[in-house]
Amino acid sequence: MGVEAVQIRRRGWGETMRRDAWWVQPIVVVVILSGFLAYATWAALQNAYYEYGGYLSPFYSPLLFGDSATAWFGAKPTWWPSLLPFSPALIILPFPAGFRFTCYYYRGAYYKAFWSDPLSCAVGEPRNEYRGEKSFPLIVQNVHRYFLYFALIFILFLAHDAWKAMWFTNAATGQKQFGIGLGTIILTANVVLLGGYTLGCHSLRHLVGGYLDRMSAAPVRKKAYDCASCLNRGHMRWAWCSLFMVAFCDVYVRMLAMGIWTDVRLL
Ligand code: FES
Repeated sequence: MGVEAVQIRRRGWGETMRRDAWWVQPIVVVVILSGFLAYATWAALQNAYYEYGGYLSPFYSPLLFGDSATAWFGAKPTWWPSLLPFSPALIILPFPAGFRFTCYYYRGAYYKAFWSDPLSCAVGEPRNEYRGEKSFPLIVQNVHRYFLYFALIFILFLAHDAWKAMWFTNAATGQKQFGIGLGTIILTANVVLLGGYTLGCHSLRHLVGGYLDRMSAAPVRKKAYDCASCLNRGHMRWAWCSLFMVAFCDVYVRMLAMGIWTDVRLL
């Protein structure tokens, strides 16, 4: 019996037999991530309207420099290049941005959406081979585990901001008094969502116990690993919800500072 040579034809870019709307997800990812990037860049360059009373936009937290009286080290660092426009957000944003950019979930999402690698399951790709992340430049994505340490510190700063957002100046006495405004709730929700996103990180899961061969010998690590795994199961949802919330926090504080919105005082 003769053996027939079977020739498998490679699909062209975007070619598929799928009939579902597989292309919707990559388009949505491109639109949302591009929109967020454009807004965050614009907001970071404003160097204005990032603070209102005890509320501080997370794009500017921690406020190392700035015109505000709450800035840690004065108005502007002496080493800032004179040719670059200055904004305190530009000093701190590379850390959370780097953490998000190198996130395992986002990598999967924007590789598909922005450069079709792969476009979707059973859909033709624009290249012949898969090179993975074993060579430059994508091997640099391994820096994610280091960005994680910064992200954990930022959660502490943002939690402190949420605490400060619970103290309002009494107009009559000039003293600070405890209260809850809509901004307090929004900034607190931001910490919760960013905490859920960060604590469910794949790298953190590995760090707290994932690297162990026998987890039962380390019950505390096992507990931490289980908690990280629990959050990790919804990592995609945490990622998107925290992205929207961090942008909305900036919008909310900005609108209050510009006098366009009025904060609702609940307590
Ligand atoms: S894998 Fe997504 S934050 Fe680390």
